[in-house]
Amino acid sequence: MSQNPFSPDQIKIIRQNMRMSVLMGVDYVPAFMARPEPPTQASPVASEPAPDRDEHTDERESEDGQGTMEIQVGEVPTYDLSDPRRATAHRELMAIRERYERDAPHKAFVTSFTNIVFGEGDPIARLMFVGEAPGADEDRTGRPFVGRAGQLLDKMIIAMGLRREDVYIANVLKTRPPNNATPTKEEAAACAPYLFDQIAAVNPQVIVTLGLPASRLILCTDESMTSMRGTWRSWSHPDPARAVTIAVMPTYHPAFLLRSYTPENRKKVWSDLKMAMERLNQNPR
Ligand code: URA
Repeated sequence: MSQNPFSPDQIKIIRQNMRMSVLMGVDYVPAFMARPEPPTQASPVASEPAPDRDEHTDERESEDGQGTMEIQVGEVPTYDLSDPRRATAHRELMAIRERYERDAPHKAFVTSFTNIVFGEGDPIARLMFVGEAPGADEDRTGRPFVGRAGQLLDKMIIAMGLRREDVYIANVLKTRPPNNATPTKEEAAACAPYLFDQIAAVNPQVIVTLGLPASRLILCTDESMTSMRGTWRSWSHPDPARAVTIAVMPTYHPAFLLRSYTPENRKKVWSDLKMAMERLNQNPR
């Protein structure tokens, strides 16, 4: 009989990683024999995330109808509008949507798109996620985060003890960027007023920004993801008359996690989400 090759400490770490993987929705891990990695020149920052720009470009391209993966999109959630607060927020969101469609701020930079992806979720959600821009699946369906990154986001939401319909999900850009590129500062700035009003309408207790462009826009900073994530920040509506200030937790984009699905990155994202949950007084499932 072969001996257990792992020490008690290693077993503890493996258990933690498995629990985290389950929470983050991993239900299949290919079996392989780990071969010791030869020592490389890599510096201690080798495990640092790659620039966010790549994470999204790759993610959107991988969803670009290459026929490798059928994306199952759930139903559009519906909400009980008999609650007056929800009905008011819903009306406000509809008005912002109409204004966005009328102004079409994307016209200056988008050459072609199929659907405007305005955002969706509970109009009075306590938790709001802000991503970067629609990918191919979102462009096709008109719904945010329905592709592979969206499926991971759904699993993250479930791991937080919530359902997708309990949260509100929006993006910095509401149309698919030209050439699937990361939004430029100009593009983000053109769409920001609509996102800011959307946030104010929902007025969540916590915003989780997903990835660099969303985190930088919301926090009005040029900091790196590494320095922002895991730290509480706050967002205020630029119009002081709105008097809206909301706690913000920046974290990595699910598309980045898909590309760099390392125990370290999963642990970081889960730690960020746990901080958001604590703030929301939610219990993990
Ligand atoms: N990536 C995003 O940033 N937003 C989406 O809606 C989908 C993928």
